[in-house]
Amino acid sequence: MSQMEIIIQPTAEQATAIAAGIISKLVREKPKPVLGLATGSTPQKLYRMLVDMQLDWREVVTFNLDEYVGLAPTDENSYRKFMWDHLFDHVNIAGKNVHIPSGEAKNIPWSCSRYEQKIRAAGGVDLQVLGIGTEGHIGFNEATSSLASRTRIKTLTKETRKANARFFGSYDKVPHHVITMGIGTIMEARQCLLLAFGNKKAGAVAAMVEGPITSWVPASVLQMHPRVVVCVDEAAASRLKKADYYRWTYENKPDWQRF
Ligand code: PGA
Repeated sequence: MSQMEIIIQPTAEQATAIAAGIISKLVREKPKPVLGLATGSTPQKLYRMLVDMQLDWREVVTFNLDEYVGLAPTDENSYRKFMWDHLFDHVNIAGKNVHIPSGEAKNIPWSCSRYEQKIRAAGGVDLQVLGIGTEGHIGFNEATSSLASRTRIKTLTKETRKANARFFGSYDKVPHHVITMGIGTIMEARQCLLLAFGNKKAGAVAAMVEGPITSWVPASVLQMHPRVVVCVDEAAASRLKKADYYRWTYENKPDWQRF
């Protein structure tokens, strides 16, 4: 199968259950699976479901998409803390298999290229979990990011800082700088699994799936990826012109094409 597969479910819970099923199958069946992971509101339910499945995480290797520059790993808002709180503390993963960009690296370009090397050394990412920003970012690759970019420092847009102010309590506290896997890095994952829920994401989802490929909507580059599954609820699907077609296609999938 080579395509972007759009799975529309009535609720975020149901869409998340499908995503959890895809990940758990990989973890059960692939020796030393390499997962690319995401943070934010979107994947929280996904991590809860994965914890409840009581999978064996001993052989699983993970690489997170991004981190804020300047936040200590113990900071409430660091993505390292998020990942341990929501997932890693509740499964039997080996600490040495967890990789998250360092927000405190002294030499940021060096630590970014080291991160890329570690992904390659692990054999590449088997499955990358993604959310999408309201303006179409993936990871922290803001609009106009190079579609060939690698892990690097990025400056957040005002829109992203406003969107994330809810975690920090105030807009002014949201860092300006982040480290993020590049779009080129994400595109090398063997499979991408993007989740989006709620009306706020409807415009970005429509632009990603049905708009032109453009750095103005970084997620649109996924149209070029050979294997992408997009799990959305009805609200996030509400601006898709071909929603009925995606629904019919999913409901009538031949057995050999099932996950
Ligand atoms: P959210 O963020 O899951 O908190 O909506 C998604 C993103 O910015 O990629």
